[in-house]
Amino acid sequence: MIHKSVKIQGAVSAPYSIEIRRDLSELSAMLSGLALPAKRACVVTESRVGPLYAEDVRCAAEAAGFETSVFTFEAGEEHKDLDQIRALYKHLIEKSFDRRDLLIALGGGVCGDMCGFAAATYLRGIDFIQVPTTLLSMVDSSVGGKTGVDLDGYKNMVGAFHQPRLVYMGVETLNTLPAEQFASGMAEVIKHGLIRNADYLDMLERDADAVRALSPETLADLIEESVRIKAEIVEHDPTERNERRLLNFGHTVGHAVEKASGLSFTHGQCVALGSIAAGRISVSRGTLTEADLSRMKRIFASYGLRTEIPSIDRNAVTEAMMHDKKKQGDAVAFVLLDGPGRSYVCGDVTKEQIGEGLEEIICRK
Ligand SMILES: NC(=O)c1ccc[n+]([C@@H]2O[C@H](COP(=O)([O-])OP(=O)(O)OC[C@H]3O[C@@H](n4cnc5c(N)ncnc54)[C@H](O)[C@@H]3O)[C@@H](O)[C@H]2O)c1
Ligand SMILES: [Zn+2]
Repeated sequence: MIHKSVKIQGAVSAPYSIEIRRDLSELSAMLSGLALPAKRACVVTESRVGPLYAEDVRCAAEAAGFETSVFTFEAGEEHKDLDQIRALYKHLIEKSFDRRDLLIALGGGVCGDMCGFAAATYLRGIDFIQVPTTLLSMVDSSVGGKTGVDLDGYKNMVGAFHQPRLVYMGVETLNTLPAEQFASGMAEVIKHGLIRNADYLDMLERDADAVRALSPETLADLIEESVRIKAEIVEHDPTERNERRLLNFGHTVGHAVEKASGLSFTHGQCVALGSIAAGRISVSRGTLTEADLSRMKRIFASYGLRTEIPSIDRNAVTEAMMHDKKKQGDAVAFVLLDGPGRSYVCGDVTKEQIGEGLEEIICRK
């Protein structure tokens, strides 16, 4: 039996729990247990996940006593925009949703971020719960309360912090996830081990076969540890001033590669490449050994993540990094490693060191 629960104290919101189960069969009881004031619940999903799981979730909400409806976004990052939010607002108005009603986000990070944003803003904020269905959304986007949409090609330009009342995950929903998307989530999981917990990194190395075979017990252990790491960091720093920046490990170069490659790689794939670049910079600065860097590469590769790309437009990558810097209003800060499991923010990485980092991820043959 899989029954894991991580409690979030909620520095800026009501406490809530993240529940990890084998499948969706306990969702109804969990919903009832929340004793929410809502009469209506809208299952907000997307066009690929909806046909697989929306009916199960709708029935769970109905059994918990809600009047239910289903709203379906077009799947994909290219549809993470305000047009879809507007369509959801219209649906909620037509169904007479009031301030006490509930949204249930069913899908990956795109759906969760959009549904959360609609919940944060409809009638100045209504309750929502998350039912994440990708590994990335289970270990990353459903924890921390960030919600939002893209605007004219700029990622997550418009958003709000809004905490869910519950996060419920059924690990078996990962059985239908495409392998490439599973690998994308694994990059964030490996990142958690690298920045925070060397024992966890050992486990990811040792249990790779069981993880790849989607053993529900192993996956539940992995998701629990990643959720704990992310939740602990986020709880200390809910609005991203200090510690939360450590979660950006691999993302400075990763985001730039993602942008420069025209989104042809998954987010996690770009984070894996960015992590290796940051690993090389850490070696150059004397805080990581060559052996640690080689081991990092082996771990990413063992989960189907490439550690090099054939070519890269260096100017486009540098430009994208500068754009990120402007957006954040400060210097390009790199998160680097001080050995496996320990990380720090470094504000004075030189141009040469960034060059060495990029060199590391370009195929030499
Ligand atoms: N809010 C945060 O803190 C935060 C953190 C990290 C990422 N994000 C956001 O998350 C998004 C990426 O999330 P994602 O990687 O989950 O992408 P996604 O939601 O686009 O899902 C990836 C793909 O998998 C499909 N899918 C989802 N679940 C499935 C299942 N169980 N079976 C079959 N197919 C399934 C989707 O339809 C999609 O094609 C980005 O928009 C990113 O900005 C947010
Ligand atoms: Zn990420």
